[in-house]
Amino acid sequence: MTGPVLAVDQGTSGTKALVVCPERGVLGTGFAEVRPRYLPGGLVEADPTELYDSVLAAGRQALAEASEPVVALGLANQGETVLAWDPASGRPLTDALVWQDRRADSVCTELAAHADELRHLTGLPLDPYFAAPKMAWIRRRLTREGVVTTSDAWLVHRLTGTCATDAATAGRTQLLDLDSAQWSPRALEIYGLADERLPQVTDNAQHIGTTTAFGPEIPLTGLAVDQQAALLAQRVTRPGAAKCTYGTGAFLLAHTGERARRGGSGLVSCVAWRIAGTTSYCLDGQVFAAASAVRWLTELGVLSGAADLDAVGGAVPDSGGVTFVPALAGLAAPWWRGDLRGSLTGLGLDTTAGHVARALCEGIAAQVAQLADAAAEDLGTGLDLLRVDGGLTRSALLMQTQADLLQRPVEVSALPDATALGAATLARLGADPALGVDHVLPGPEPAAVYEPRIGADQAAERRARFRTAVQALLDA
Ligand code: G3P
Repeated sequence: MTGPVLAVDQGTSGTKALVVCPERGVLGTGFAEVRPRYLPGGLVEADPTELYDSVLAAGRQALAEASEPVVALGLANQGETVLAWDPASGRPLTDALVWQDRRADSVCTELAAHADELRHLTGLPLDPYFAAPKMAWIRRRLTREGVVTTSDAWLVHRLTGTCATDAATAGRTQLLDLDSAQWSPRALEIYGLADERLPQVTDNAQHIGTTTAFGPEIPLTGLAVDQQAALLAQRVTRPGAAKCTYGTGAFLLAHTGERARRGGSGLVSCVAWRIAGTTSYCLDGQVFAAASAVRWLTELGVLSGAADLDAVGGAVPDSGGVTFVPALAGLAAPWWRGDLRGSLTGLGLDTTAGHVARALCEGIAAQVAQLADAAAEDLGTGLDLLRVDGGLTRSALLMQTQADLLQRPVEVSALPDATALGAATLARLGADPALGVDHVLPGPEPAAVYEPRIGADQAAERRARFRTAVQALLDA
């Protein structure tokens, strides 16, 4: 089946839609902002109706701009965001607990004795970042009949009437058996969710249903969690390379082949995608606050916006001894201390906004470099380069800092919307199973390649300073 496809990336801070044609590239784009509520105590909520409306608004905008019919729809989602809803009416019964929400910490504390077993079964550490602790938290408090699922299953139900999630998103719950890529009865039992009506786990590229929500009838043939969609669009389809997407958080994923690899470095081992029944796996590391840390500096008045990062940070040659651990939503892999909060140290009367902006870039880049090292260790091979995408890749300062601290080239995707492109790829594969993965990938030349500009000694010194600051938080 040929023709353009509509790809929708429903993210934490907004929904992006593209109409993509294999021959002519991007024909239409749409965007609708969503506003999660950041509340005291690490609570982060979103209005499910706002999420759905943003899917419709962004999708319709892209279709109107493209002004031609599409043959399929692909949908990417936030991953670990959870809500309860009524399967009869489709109405949400709770707000969506966003992946950054920490309220299910109490569930994890209670299940601590099962942490090793859960990790072995599912590849995921016990942490409220993942969907299952949030699902259990909601289930215990739900007074009305309903299902508790990740946000994609609800969106898919609203769009098509089918209750489904894909294998990669299901792999972000801590309820999916890592080896079989099917729901794990044992993990469900541990979480007290054995009686839950769970969505059907589909391949990432298959016919799931049909929607008329955008106007014409469109088959939904691609589904994925956003980071895995970006991994596919970045053409990381074999072991040896990694990608990092700099969105609300920053997420580094490395492909590990068709066998799950349970490493010892603290990274997550999970499904990359399941296509035509074959499961591919990846290692995944997370920086919980990237663009959300930039937004935080903006709210404090240090920056006037993300676009200001380079101008403000570029006004000074270095961070002036300031170290910023931007753990504003806690620390994820390899530390898994979501309870910690950020630190800003080395401040003096001479500290300027530029020093703080640079320290933030170093803080994000040092964490990503740590994740890349952990992935290389688990894979037992070096990672030759890092492919990057997402809004913050527009910051040359951040990207140069990344190459410097990583001591490897950083290749910036020509299209910052890699996640939507991955969803488009899956939609095409699902609409026409005869196509192979390599055939449908967009594969544009990188927009820029940043080479390290500092020596290994200087990089090691800066990374050691960052690790010392993290250690101080861990020891406090
Ligand atoms: O795990 C959460 C992550 O996938 C969310 O991505 O782009 O919404 O920050 P994003």
